Amino acid sequence: MKNITRDNLTDTVKSSFANIDGERQRHLVNRLVHHLHAFASETGLSHDEWRDGIAFLHRMAEISSPSRSEFTLLSDVLGLSSLVDLLAARPGATEGSVLGPFHTRGSPWVDNGSNLINQNEGEAVLIQGRVTDTDGQPLANASIDFWQNADNGMYWQMDDSQPQDNLRCQLKVQADGRFELATIRPRPYMVPTDGPVGELLRMSHRDAWRPAHFHIIVEATGYRSLITEVFDEADPWVDKDAVFGVRASLVRPFTPASDAATAERMGLPAQYLSVELPIRLARED
Ligand code: BEZ
Ligand code: FE
Repeated sequence: MKNITRDNLTDTVKSSFANIDGERQRHLVNRLVHHLHAFASETGLSHDEWRDGIAFLHRMAEISSPSRSEFTLLSDVLGLSSLVDLLAARPGATEGSVLGPFHTRGSPWVDNGSNLINQNEGEAVLIQGRVTDTDGQPLANASIDFWQNADNGMYWQMDDSQPQDNLRCQLKVQADGRFELATIRPRPYMVPTDGPVGELLRMSHRDAWRPAHFHIIVEATGYRSLITEVFDEADPWVDKDAVFGVRASLVRPFTPASDAATAERMGLPAQYLSVELPIRLARED
C-alpha cells in the first residue's frame, strides 16, 4: 500500500505516466501534471472552485461542435495560442499570428491578380506582396491561402447573406515570388461571446474585439509554413486585440492610391487603398 500524502502525490502521479511512449509526449504530460498541481497548491484551490472549473469545461464542451471550438477560443483569449505562435518564430522570417476559427481547407483556387470584390460593399484594397526566403530570394513555388471578413464584420460561414467562399481564395505566386489580389478593407470583429469564453470576458471586463485583419497561410516546399495575419494600422482596436495576435511587424498602412493602369488591370475603382505584404519564410528545421 502506498500512503498518498501532499508530499508524494505529485511525484506519484508523474510516475504513473512514466511509460508513455515517446520521450516528448512523456515530457509534456510530466510537465502538465507538475504545473497543474503547482497551480492548485499555490492557490489553495477549494472544492467549490474546482467544481466551478469543471462545470466551466462542461459548458465549453456543450457549445463546441465540428464548426465551433470553444476550446480554441479559450486558448486564444488566454494568450496560449499567441504564445505558441511566438515560440514557433524563426529569425528573419515573417512573424506568425493566430489561425482563428474561420479557416477551412479547400478555398477556391484563383489566378494571381484576381479580384475578390464581386458584390461586396466596402473600400477597395489592392494587396501586393512577395514571398522570399529569409535572405530575400524569391520562392517561386509558394502558395497563399487567404481569407477575411466582409464589410458587415462577418465571415461567409457566419452569414447566410454572403455567397459561399466569399472573400477567400488560394493562389500560386509568380516565378519572382510576387502576388497581388484585389479585395475590400476588412473590418474589426468580435470573437463569439455567447459561450463560456464570453462569460469569462465579461467577468474580466474585457473587450471581445479584434482589429481588422487579413488572414494568410503561406506554404512553399522545403520551408516552414506560415500562418499569420495582416492588420490595418488605422483600426482603433489595433492596440487591444482580444486574442493578442498583433505584432508591430504585421501592422500595415492602407495607403490611398490611384494608379490608373493598376486600377484597370485589377478591376479596381479609380481610388483604392494599397497594402504591401512582404513575406519571408524560414527553411524547415
Ligand atoms: C478571427 O480572426 O476571426 C478570430 C481569431 C481568434 C478567435 C476568434 C476569431
Ligand atoms: Fe479573423
